[in-house]
Amino acid sequence: MDVEAAKHAAGEAAAALVEDGMRVGLGTGSTARWFIIALGRRIDAGLRASGVATSYATQRLAEEHSIPLHELTRSGLDLAVDGADQVDAALNVVKGGGGALVREKIVAGAARRFVVIVDESKSVTHLSGPLPVELLGFGVEHTLGALEATGARFFLREAPDGSLEHSENGNLLADGLYPAISDPHALADALAALPGVVDHGLFLGMAERVLVGRDDGTVEDRTR
Ligand code: 5RP
Repeated sequence: MDVEAAKHAAGEAAAALVEDGMRVGLGTGSTARWFIIALGRRIDAGLRASGVATSYATQRLAEEHSIPLHELTRSGLDLAVDGADQVDAALNVVKGGGGALVREKIVAGAARRFVVIVDESKSVTHLSGPLPVELLGFGVEHTLGALEATGARFFLREAPDGSLEHSENGNLLADGLYPAISDPHALADALAALPGVVDHGLFLGMAERVLVGRDDGTVEDRTR
């Protein structure tokens, strides 16, 4: 399977949704990259649109592709487009594999429309681990214990040199290895209630549309 072709197809389809004058949330990761490149091409061809980046990598990519960037303001965004690690049939999503989940959730939540772009390998019947979470460093061992009481082993992410990985917000990242997430809403509520958890990678009821790219270049359009 040509995963890159599938990601490319989904990114191109999402870029076609951007209308003149829109303010757009720009996601992070290898699928969002194709969206940003395609949007940059449309801007070069005369489309007026601007973006809010969800990570420094996305900021750099958007700058390379002539997408004007701005801060997130109170008026929010018209559209946000981002990749995902898993998507279920109800368009619930697990995100954060790239460690940008907090900014990604702020940007998706600020957008009137949130569109997720994936290749077919991300489509699942039921969500499961690894579920990314962002954690405050203070008291992290206690927070990990509280997280594990929700039904999964949690592991702090490490950088290649063995040091603990930090998000761009300066916090720690961990992944919960849930064998299955039978009630995503109950789990999201439980995680959000834990002191020390900045946010988690369950994006529930946020995506209005999921574009699933296939390696033959076609795109399945799933709408809620
Ligand atoms: C980053 C994310 C990414 O969108 C997610 O990990 C998917 O990445 P990719 O498109 O590279 O598979 O949530 O925090």
